[in-house]
Amino acid sequence: MKSFIYDLPTKIYFGENATDNLNSELKNYGKRVLLCYGGGSIKKTGLYDKVIEQIKKAGSEHFELCGIEPNPRIDSVREGAKICKEQNIDVILAVGGGSTLDCAKWIAAAAKVEHDAWDFFSEWAPVNDALPVLTVLTLSATGSEMNCGGVISNPQTKDKIGRLARPLLPKASFLDPTLTYTVSAYQTACGSADILSHILEVYFSPNNDLYMLDRCLEAMMKTVIKFTPIALNKPDDYEARANLMWTSSWAINEFSKTGKTHEWSCHPMEHELSALYDITHGLGLAILTPRFLKYCLNEQNVDKYVQFGVNVFDIDKALPKMEIANLAIDKLSSFLFEDLKLDSTFTQVKIKQEDFPLMAQKACEGGTIKGFVELTASDIEKIFEMCI
Ligand code: NZQ
Ligand code: ZN
Repeated sequence: MKSFIYDLPTKIYFGENATDNLNSELKNYGKRVLLCYGGGSIKKTGLYDKVIEQIKKAGSEHFELCGIEPNPRIDSVREGAKICKEQNIDVILAVGGGSTLDCAKWIAAAAKVEHDAWDFFSEWAPVNDALPVLTVLTLSATGSEMNCGGVISNPQTKDKIGRLARPLLPKASFLDPTLTYTVSAYQTACGSADILSHILEVYFSPNNDLYMLDRCLEAMMKTVIKFTPIALNKPDDYEARANLMWTSSWAINEFSKTGKTHEWSCHPMEHELSALYDITHGLGLAILTPRFLKYCLNEQNVDKYVQFGVNVFDIDKALPKMEIANLAIDKLSSFLFEDLKLDSTFTQVKIKQEDFPLMAQKACEGGTIKGFVELTASDIEKIFEMCI
């Protein structure tokens, strides 16, 4: 087991009407608030009005950045940073899904520097400081509410790059499962595919397992598999939405990284799909993940698949190992493509074969992805071919 430091100070307010506490947290961070949100779902659901009420109750003044896109763009970060500088913003309040939260985090960092915001990604400019960020989550998926990561797209360079930086960790996040009742069936399914992928990226790791963590990861996978169909069938099922929301936060935070060496594989591949085709992150992961698992399976690593199949899908452990492994992949596929009704091929989402070489090169940054199985650009192209 690898040594580690665990330090996750994001304060969580969880439960119905969690946002009633927003005013007291806002007061801790200053009077001038930049409210960030996406394409308008928060106005349709009435959440916007509640948030404004909380800002007023805190005695704060607010400015707005709206229209943050899914797969948020660097231009939105630039625009937000400009408002922060011009208006002397003290605190950023992000209300929405992972895209809004990620964008807000990078605005918080860009507000503290003089250089262009894209330098954080193209030059790996240091992130020494950031404005405080508070989040109100409306979609269970990315875990951005409780981690220090953020993924930004640059349509000019056709890049989509994620980066972790400790100053971006939200100070507090408000998780009210009822706010996710209005998430569409498609986004609910994509969100769950994303959560599942975060867990699998750590679970299928190249080194020795941390027994305790693997059991926790299995419990999280079982939670997603149990509750997503319930949420799809009955969008206002509180228990289902609550279980998905809390799993989204724990699937990709400091805890789920402890004790293991892990290098992610499907995420770098997926980021190239959404960089070029602007597809939904969770959908790209759903298509890739079963193919990735199939491609990597061999006699040396089959035990990991057996553990996955037996502990997550309750497959009979008396069956031959390879049979269990293949059954586990089939069960994962049927969860993603039948229960969640997600598209299952690149053809359906119009990803063209001619782009495979470029996307593969970029996914491994011209070298290899040193994940569960080391993958070269040629391996990645073969995985893409399995997705056609
Ligand atoms: O923009 P609005 O109008 O709010 O609509 C959004 C958007 O169209 C809608 N939505 C959100 N909450 C809703 C709702 N609609 C109705 N009711 C609600 N309560 O859903 C659509 C998708 O939202 P988005 O924020 O894009 O989804 P998600 O949370 O899946 O975020 C995806 C982004 O996060 C990145 C992804 O790459 C992608 O850019 N990721 C961030 C990570 C992180 N910070 O750690 C890790 C992930 O692996 C991921 O890469
Ligand atoms: Zn993800």
